[in-house]
Amino acid sequence: MAGTKTTKKLRSQEWFDNPDNPGMTALYLERYLNFGLTREELQSGKPLIGIAQTGSDLSPCNRHHIELAKRVRDGIVAAGGVPFEFPCHPIQETGKRPTASLDRNLAYLSLVEVLYGYPLDGVVLTIGCDKTAPALLMAAATVNIPAIALSVGPMLNGWHKGERTGSGTIVWKSRERLSSGEIDYNQFMDIVASSAPSVGYCNTMGTATTMNSLAEALGMQLPGAAAIPAPYRERGQISYETGKRIVDMVREDLKPSDIMTREAFENAIVINSAIGGSTNAPIHLNAIARHLDVPLDNDDWQRVGHHVPLLVNLQPAGEYLGEDYHHAGGVPAVVAELMKAGLLPHPDAITANGKSMGENCGATENMDPKVIRSVADPLKKDAGFINLRGNLFDSAIMKTSVISPEFRDRYLSNPKDPEAFEGTAKVFDGPEDYHARIDDPAENIDEHTVLFMRGAGPVGYPGGAEVVNMQPPAYLLKRGIHSLPCIGDGRQSGTSGSPSILNASPEAAVGGGLALLKSGDRVRIDLRMGTADILVSDDEIARRRAELQNDGGYHFPAHQTPWQEIQRGMVDQLAQGMVLKPAVKYQ
Ligand code: FES
Ligand code: MG
Repeated sequence: MAGTKTTKKLRSQEWFDNPDNPGMTALYLERYLNFGLTREELQSGKPLIGIAQTGSDLSPCNRHHIELAKRVRDGIVAAGGVPFEFPCHPIQETGKRPTASLDRNLAYLSLVEVLYGYPLDGVVLTIGCDKTAPALLMAAATVNIPAIALSVGPMLNGWHKGERTGSGTIVWKSRERLSSGEIDYNQFMDIVASSAPSVGYCNTMGTATTMNSLAEALGMQLPGAAAIPAPYRERGQISYETGKRIVDMVREDLKPSDIMTREAFENAIVINSAIGGSTNAPIHLNAIARHLDVPLDNDDWQRVGHHVPLLVNLQPAGEYLGEDYHHAGGVPAVVAELMKAGLLPHPDAITANGKSMGENCGATENMDPKVIRSVADPLKKDAGFINLRGNLFDSAIMKTSVISPEFRDRYLSNPKDPEAFEGTAKVFDGPEDYHARIDDPAENIDEHTVLFMRGAGPVGYPGGAEVVNMQPPAYLLKRGIHSLPCIGDGRQSGTSGSPSILNASPEAAVGGGLALLKSGDRVRIDLRMGTADILVSDDEIARRRAELQNDGGYHFPAHQTPWQEIQRGMVDQLAQGMVLKPAVKYQ
């Protein structure tokens, strides 16, 4: 445990220092000497530390890790360890077709194999772009050797004409202006490019800032490590400290299962509400928990997190961006605000530096209360997720921090008489179908329509597409109607401020209720009761189900690659973390 040195023989010595089997030892050893390592480095009990490198030319968000790894190596050597940097399967959120989340489990699998099969005593997980954090934490959970995460850090703030332009969020905003003819194609490109002014990951509170903050909230990063912008000098310094610390974690045998406990996940859920974290967070944290055999489900997200206020004023829920978040104090300042109000459930949870969350963060000063608000003066109250269920699905997540005040008063928090919301369904089968039909006036989409996206879950659109936040037709935008309720079995970008109902599980492709929905059905959503139902009789539902079965089930596009087929055959649903079902028994 933290602080105490273990006398356990190092794992790497089974490879490099095993006199009982000199033949194998020599074979292992000679090839690792050939690039200049010495027997003293490999055989004298120095911890061998992997640096799981996620940066590459294909992964621009994480590419700066190639530079940072030099400082990590310096730290490892300074503490008496030996660094071994190796590449991870690239996962670039914006560049990978059909979707980067298809590759989360592939990167997980390949890292498990590396950590298990090579002589590593501990590992630095270089995280950043959305899926890299969960993929690497899941692998560390499965293999359970000492591990510490290191964020690459967000990009600098984007600016255009004196206003902050935030990653992703500016795309959703500007494409409306493009659709309505307010700006042209080239103006649109310039505005969006302004949001990416430097190396680093998305500067909004999208899935990257969320997952990097939550890696710290879980205790898997050094305090303050999540929010430092990628180009800042502190980023290199924390990289060095991270390299030093992992060597001591090996000596203390401080493992992922010691840090990522049920208590740590409850802390992370509360912190996620306070930061206004992405709806991808429950998918990824539920997945990490499953690989540790820690019970965690979407009901926990509502029960532990819904009553927590939104404190962090970052786009898309607020105004500011990553640099501002860092200047205000990042995760430690958020934790300190929560602790002042008694809202952090487990201040005693141990973290990677061997101290508790409370010891690390309790005294942190909030340097900018405009960016990180206090619990007494929050951006929004009760800002965590709610978990909905009904005859359409067993579980779907709604991010309440982005619901408009009018909608919230009317449908969620009016203490006297919150109404249920009713509308008429318009159903799309995948993003291509949506794009083909949304602007067609014959579809009769109006302000009473609820847009449904199905065929977008982990099986239907392999990996689960971020397509549920659907823009209304151009003719409604021109009339000033900027959003319609959206529900779907896919995901939504964390940079979107749409109050969609997402991650519906089970998805249509595996026979979930959404497969039975027809355009024109009336739909009733009661946020207060946590229900979403089609208003058709049980008999009609049974009839449609029989019809669907006769038709061979819900149809989805053919596999395009071997991995798509392999994953579709064994992937679990979004509510269950979208893990590979056979993988969770390896703990
Ligand atoms: Fe990589 Fe947002 S696209 S961090
Ligand atoms: Mg995304």
